[in-house]
Amino acid sequence: MERVATVSERQIPGGRTVEGDRQAVVELIDVTKVYPLGKTEVHAVRGVSFAVEKGEFISITGPSGSGKSTILNMIGCIDTPTSGVVKINGTETSSLKDKQLTALRHKTLGFIFQSFNLIPVLDVYENIEFPLLLGKEKRSKAETREWIDFLIEAVGLQPYRKHKPAELSGGQRQRVAIARALATKPTIVLADEPTANLDSKTGLSIIELMKRLNRELQTTFIFSTHDPKIVEIADHVIRLQDGLVVEDVRRNGAQRQELAAGAGAAAGETARESAGEAPGGPAQKAGGAS
Ligand SMILES: Nc1ncnc2c1ncn2[C@@H]1O[C@H](COP(=O)(O)OP(=O)(O)OP(=O)(O)O)[C@@H](O)[C@H]1O
Ligand SMILES: [Mg+2]
Repeated sequence: MERVATVSERQIPGGRTVEGDRQAVVELIDVTKVYPLGKTEVHAVRGVSFAVEKGEFISITGPSGSGKSTILNMIGCIDTPTSGVVKINGTETSSLKDKQLTALRHKTLGFIFQSFNLIPVLDVYENIEFPLLLGKEKRSKAETREWIDFLIEAVGLQPYRKHKPAELSGGQRQRVAIARALATKPTIVLADEPTANLDSKTGLSIIELMKRLNRELQTTFIFSTHDPKIVEIADHVIRLQDGLVVEDVRRNGAQRQELAAGAGAAAGETARESAGEAPGGPAQKAGGAS
């Protein structure tokens, strides 16, 4: 079992300076998604509104089929809403032309998919480097190498840098996908169940890396997860049930919203979790652990 690098001891090469006034980087306003299914329809998302602020570490959680992937795909402009509005950095994504969408996907958004979408003929290093080759940014070879090496080490894949995806386990492929999503230092990373294929220790070290990038680069992370340990680390939690938001909670003490009266088991569970917690408690806990 290879060791995953402890990122807390390490420097992020070429890190950006953070100037951080809070602003909504993602906004959903009354978004619905209806999939046609034969002669019927699936109402996957049934009127969802929430905002994600710059630099948040936000978890979209909820049971299987509640609409998590559908929402991430709409934020990532992979799918379009049936009705409602999705805004990225204040711009309605439905108003963007193809070129602008491509630029948005390249510069602003990083993706980690449930299925990893790695390029089979490229090795680990080349897969992670790949998004950098698509951009116009000028970087020296040495700079690129230092950054890719950092990412490879941070996700614990040093012994595998020359391996092709077919020569990796599912968990190792997921780590390549995570490193690749971070390669362009996007301002928003969308991750659909990023730790689903990892053992819990490796999963937590990946989350630790994400949390650090979140802090130091002000990268906004929006991820779906079933894992309560990861939900706990998030500083903003959106809980879905049957295509609706049943809970929208910020744990930094600034804002606490409990939505949907009688939201059922999910809301009840959270109320129990939150009982007796001072505002800021969980956020401090998360910060202290990373
Ligand atoms: N392309 C599609 N065509 C028809 N129905 C779909 C399609 N994609 C998703 N759905 C349906 O929409 C609902 C929401 O699916 P979604 O994948 O967003 O759920 P999820 O919360 O991500 O679930 P999981 O935790 O299992 O990944 C489900 O009922 C699903 O069957
Ligand atoms: Mg899903």
